[in-house]
Amino acid sequence: MSLFDASERVPLRAAPSPALRGRFRPPGDKSISHRAFLFGLLTRGETRIEGLLEGDDVLRTGRACKALGAAVERLAPGRWRVRGPGLGALPPPREKLDFRNAGTGSRLTMGVVGGHGVTATFDGDASLRKRPMNRILDPLKLMGAVVLDEAEGGRCPITIKGARDPAPILYRAPVASAQIKSAVLLAGLNARGVTTVIEAEASRDHTETMLAHFGAEVTVTPEGGGRRIELVGRPELKAAPVVVPADPSAAAFPIVAALIVPDSDVVIEGVMMNPLRSGLVGTLLEMGADIAFLDRRREGGEEVADLRVRASGLIGVDVPASRAPSMIDEYPILAVAASFAAGATRMRGLTELRVKESDRLAAVAAGLAAGGVAHAIEGDDLIVEGGARPLGGGLVATHMDHRIAMSFLVMGLASRAPMTVDDTAMIATSFPTFRPAMERLGARFE
Ligand code: S3P
Repeated sequence: MSLFDASERVPLRAAPSPALRGRFRPPGDKSISHRAFLFGLLTRGETRIEGLLEGDDVLRTGRACKALGAAVERLAPGRWRVRGPGLGALPPPREKLDFRNAGTGSRLTMGVVGGHGVTATFDGDASLRKRPMNRILDPLKLMGAVVLDEAEGGRCPITIKGARDPAPILYRAPVASAQIKSAVLLAGLNARGVTTVIEAEASRDHTETMLAHFGAEVTVTPEGGGRRIELVGRPELKAAPVVVPADPSAAAFPIVAALIVPDSDVVIEGVMMNPLRSGLVGTLLEMGADIAFLDRRREGGEEVADLRVRASGLIGVDVPASRAPSMIDEYPILAVAASFAAGATRMRGLTELRVKESDRLAAVAAGLAAGGVAHAIEGDDLIVEGGARPLGGGLVATHMDHRIAMSFLVMGLASRAPMTVDDTAMIATSFPTFRPAMERLGARFE
């Protein structure tokens, strides 16, 4: 697989489109795909992966796993084989680990390195270099890792000397973040004793599920409004196949497109219905979306369903802050849906959006302004005033953020005038087939 070239800007315009029709399966889930590579690295023997997301972010994690001693091979589209050196046996990487745009890949791999006696340098593109890493480095330091070098404020490039014998810790995550939780658990895998993470609000649980799938002893118990996760270190991880369900965060774009393009009727297949990832669909249902769940079944240990989505008259709602962890990546596209809804939608408690691939709160507000949509930011809340069909006609700055690019392209499929985004190169990080897939449903891009 070749990695894309992000050095050139690729602008794109989305134009008002005829009714979207057809069926489509989104690519594999990004969170599970990163973890599939990392579990393959940490497990001796052969890990087979089906349905891997072949986006740049995930391929960067695959590359890092290679640098850390795994044999990583692509057998067919979405089918990969990883043969890892196994827990405790990682060699020091000979090259810098360049994660480009990938926050999840870099942070989870920091956890792996932090719990092994190897030294590695982590770096990325201009977007990743702006993102805060102390949230990961702080617990890793408690476990015995040493930060040898870092850019100001705990930013990449960062060189970490991992702990050969990491201390099992009890860690209360300061924010509801699956990345923080996962980094601590991945480091804790190589600790003698029980590593505990307490999260005040439940975040996506793929790491816990996959730890159990690979034979580790992990217990999850409700605590307060959140969860306590306990992991017994130094398990004998057993190779196990990974089947990756379709990514609900990628599905979000065709779902909202079908809701707002008049007369649309599409089926999005195999979408993971994990409740910790389903906040957007729940919110859209509250807004009056016509979404039917067909053929609910299990795939790869997760519940999945085919979603039949028909164009709907939406109404504005109040989205509580407590829902944020289950839809953290979906606010840009929810803001687009809200632009087409009658009345105001208030999305509460969006602080974490400021530290994503871009400052997503600011980027969404600017995109709404470009589309002629009235909105306001009050503290950490975003209020979108829906009503008449948005004017569109604007140019949106994507700030190296794939979800900003896709969201405002979706807006342009249904606004009065086309919407243009200044760069679509980053879409390849998470949804490389976005354009052809949407075109097959009837979307018009120019
Ligand atoms: C992810 C966790 C989320 C999410 C990211 C993927 C993961 O980040 O935004 O796209 O796979 O663990 P946070 O944990 O920082 O909220």
